[in-house]
Amino acid sequence: VVPLPPAARQRTAGGRVIPLARTMAALREQRDRLRGEITRGRPEGVRRQHQLGKRTARERLELLLDEGSFTEVEPYRRHRATAFGLGETRPHTDGVVAGSGTIDGRRVFVYAQDFTVFGGSLGEAHAAKIHKVMDLAVATGAPLIGLNDSGGARIQEGVLALHGYGGIFRRQVAASGVIPQISVVLGPCAGGAAYSPALADVTFMVRDTARMYLTGPDVVEAVTGQRVSHEELGGADVHGTHSGVATVVHDDEDSCLADVRYLVSLLPANYLEPPPATAACGAAADVRPRLAELVPVEPGKPYDMRDVLAEILDDGEFFELHEGWAGNVICALGRLDGHVVGVVGNQPVVAAGVLDGPASQKAARFVRFCDAFGIALVTLVDVPGFLPGVDQEHSGIIRHGAQLLHAYCEATVPRVQVILRKAYGGAYIVMDSRSIGSDLSLAWPTNEIAVMGAEGAVNVLFRKDLAASEDPSALRDALTARYTDEFMHPQYAAERGLVDDVIDPADTRAALARGLDMLRGKRADPPRRKHGNHPM
Ligand code: HXC
Repeated sequence: VVPLPPAARQRTAGGRVIPLARTMAALREQRDRLRGEITRGRPEGVRRQHQLGKRTARERLELLLDEGSFTEVEPYRRHRATAFGLGETRPHTDGVVAGSGTIDGRRVFVYAQDFTVFGGSLGEAHAAKIHKVMDLAVATGAPLIGLNDSGGARIQEGVLALHGYGGIFRRQVAASGVIPQISVVLGPCAGGAAYSPALADVTFMVRDTARMYLTGPDVVEAVTGQRVSHEELGGADVHGTHSGVATVVHDDEDSCLADVRYLVSLLPANYLEPPPATAACGAAADVRPRLAELVPVEPGKPYDMRDVLAEILDDGEFFELHEGWAGNVICALGRLDGHVVGVVGNQPVVAAGVLDGPASQKAARFVRFCDAFGIALVTLVDVPGFLPGVDQEHSGIIRHGAQLLHAYCEATVPRVQVILRKAYGGAYIVMDSRSIGSDLSLAWPTNEIAVMGAEGAVNVLFRKDLAASEDPSALRDALTARYTDEFMHPQYAAERGLVDDVIDPADTRAALARGLDMLRGKRADPPRRKHGNHPM
């Protein structure tokens, strides 16, 4: 903190008292000195931050934003608390750098917690700065990005710190579906502070340095007797693979912040604006023969749905959400003929692409995210059904499946379903079937839509005949062949208008580009009500 110069004064001939230092040059020099100190931070704090393998708040903002685009707000703000000796240390910024900048020339609002000041802990002034950029982000309709690195509520400020957190959460909920909210966890994020990333649309974490938990290892041990490390309890991999709180996990801060920039390039500034499109690239006439080779005709043979996404989307590029969690379903953002789309796809290489509780929740949240921000949905279906099991039933697969159903049913963005191979039972319905509102349903010739697979169906329908038969195996084969002939092809659904067209797999990219172009003007008028009651 730069002390103000001693109150040197002089008396003019007329007797008026003026401060000696009140020349423009002196005042500018004094201002520059203070501003420089605020910007540079405490050298020992910066050194420790680097020793911990972390960048400082300002270094992070430099990586995140376009060069020279950052406009800071309230750098001079500091706390007014006095308890526990806090009054003797009143650093400017109060532990958070807040403001606005651009990413690829598009405006975003940001705050970056500064661990070198009170461990980035959140007090009244710190919270007020975050509230300010949140309010500005909503007022101007620009995305909000929060970089978290904090010891949580500033203990010495008591209820004022908790009140500050509440103000963040309330604003986040009010801004949900209005502007994209991105949370990046780059250090500790403990206690109730973890609810801010949990309320965001997309949450990034970095391995080894980021950690998120409601109660730390010491409390866990005191209450449960279980010893666990910070990383094991709430590290990036835990949240990226088990809890699903982290949407994207990175090895280091630099790649993480570069990825945040990529995500922003795919999102609209707010719900009233369309997602940013790039120039069309002739996808409507693009034939991709490899698609027919990628997917084996046998319904049980695995293949990687990511390869299909790479063939369908522009430049083979996409941004995958929750890559490490519930891998049996893929959720990704990409571009098709320049326009941003959200793709939901069953993943046959993970648990045969079956739908279970986590996969349903993951897809449901993604569908709602896309719908909120006007991102058209493409659903790639190859699903054997919902996962049977005591665990699944007891852990609420009915509730989780209902979440996905609810999300699709209320989505009003353009929706195109492509059934690649199989779609059975309830899983057929929830994967954006015609019955729940898909605008366009396309099927490959390999397509099988049915209540269940042929053998299962024969076992149920002809149990008595099979039991009475002298050669049950031959009878089963014959009946299975009959069931396959009657049901296991797209024609049955296409003749009844449940499939719009049976397409050549090689034409999938082109058919999607044409279909989405046809649907681009879609407008919906949802019924008036306060809000639905989503089965969360
Ligand atoms: C005040 C804090 C602080 C806090 C850290 N500091 N957390 N000051 N309030 N919550 C200060 C430290 O005293 C220290 O100050 C400096 O920040 C750096 O912290 P260190 O402990 O030296 O760093 P490190 O060893 O890296 O450990 C980081 C940490 C640890 C794991 C985050 O500081 C910690 O456990 N802090 C407390 C975490 C916590 O219980 N927070 C409350 C959660 S409850 P000096 O002066 O020594 O440099 C909560 C409720 C929110 O947040 C509810 C919202 C609904």
